[in-house]
Amino acid sequence: MANHSVLITALVAFAIAATGLASVIPPVDAACNSSTFSIRQVKNPRFSRHGPLALAKIYRKYRVPFPDDLRAFMDHFSHTMKRTTGSASTTPESDDVEYLTSVSIGTPPQVLNMNFDTGSSDLWVFSTELPADEVNGQTLYDPSKSSTAQKLQGETWSITYGDGSTCGGDVYTDQVTVGSLTVKTQAVECADHVSKEFTEDTQNSGLFGLGFDNINTVMPDRQNTFFTNAKSGLDQPLFTADLKAGAPGTYSFGFIDKNAYVGKITYLPVDTSQGFWEFTSPGYLIASGKVQRVALQGIADTGTTLLLLPDQVVSDYYSSVSGAQYESSQAGYTFPCSQSSSLPDFTFVLNSSSAITVPGKYMTYAPTDSSGQTCFGSMQRNTGVGFSIFGDIAIKSAFVVFDGGNTRIGWAAKEIKV
Ligand SMILES: *[C@@H]1O[C@H](CO)[C@@H](O)[C@H](O)[C@H]1NC(C)=O
Ligand SMILES: *[C@@H]1O[C@H](CO)[C@@H](O)[C@H](O)[C@H]1NC(C)=O
Repeated sequence: MANHSVLITALVAFAIAATGLASVIPPVDAACNSSTFSIRQVKNPRFSRHGPLALAKIYRKYRVPFPDDLRAFMDHFSHTMKRTTGSASTTPESDDVEYLTSVSIGTPPQVLNMNFDTGSSDLWVFSTELPADEVNGQTLYDPSKSSTAQKLQGETWSITYGDGSTCGGDVYTDQVTVGSLTVKTQAVECADHVSKEFTEDTQNSGLFGLGFDNINTVMPDRQNTFFTNAKSGLDQPLFTADLKAGAPGTYSFGFIDKNAYVGKITYLPVDTSQGFWEFTSPGYLIASGKVQRVALQGIADTGTTLLLLPDQVVSDYYSSVSGAQYESSQAGYTFPCSQSSSLPDFTFVLNSSSAITVPGKYMTYAPTDSSGQTCFGSMQRNTGVGFSIFGDIAIKSAFVVFDGGNTRIGWAAKEIKV
């Protein structure tokens, strides 16, 4: 039942996108040559926000050992969860949503809602190879039902997290379609085991990596991302992210929508050596304060929610929020939720004449408990990670161009509603 309604939501969202963007979507038979297209995200209604869990997810993803207070929190959390849960599903607040994008895999197409992730480079899916107890509502890709699926003999993939949990499996190639663009031979990594964090994310059927190929985990032969494979068929070798708060955003491939931003796009060079869209912002300012010249070397990561910055920057920010403090029991900065409506804007600099402002209203992530007194901030420190992470909080504040042709990232301001 749940699956069915999600599928319909996905199709409806796509139909709306297709109508609205008819002028940029080429006929299907032209899609393997010159091509541009957009795809809208769909809602994940079961996602609920939890500050320390969001932080733990980042430490796992980047395989960084948990700081002591986060480890203590997680130990306590998993202990209490074990004692109290039968059903782990929480009732989300209406604004607590995560957005996914629908992807068609195989022939006939199997439609999966996936997380588009510029911070990783594997396209992996929940599959029929998973044991039943590791599946909880996700759509499963079944290679045996696709006439175009071919097993890549001897190839496996595996992702190991900082806390020792892993997911992995075998690899097929199959036809993968996003919007109107099809890659005929795309590596589709089928999970035959996933850790409980993925099982619990009930509507998310896989990750769609949009980082660089050098961090793809398939062994012995590393595989290309969908974007790498699609690049030569696009009008321009780039994709853009126009994510929104509380509404589906749009990923576009092959063109820049001139109506999606205001002013100019400022491009910064990207260092691909770690596999990420890594760039350096030369400084920041809080509210309308003075520019602080601190190099913020970081990555643009659509698969991470929070904004993680160096300790000194984060403590500088929260020093201007009344009642804010670093709370060890939450492994992060918290403040009285009553401050939510008056949090200062945070601006990161692109060059001497341009910058992106993250509105103060994006800086509240979630209440720390059901009393709703104390809130966990969306900006947290990047202790141990080694770089800053410009997650969705930052990406939603801008129009972002991932320019694979010129190995650069473009940021532009846009009108932010709400
Ligand atoms: C598309 O195909 C046409 C004709 O076959 C060719 O002239 C054109 O260069 C192709 N465009 C791209 C982007 O490959
Ligand atoms: C800063 O970026 C703008 C585009 O937003 C560009 O026109 C300008 O030349 C850049 N300035 C410098 C000093 O690079």
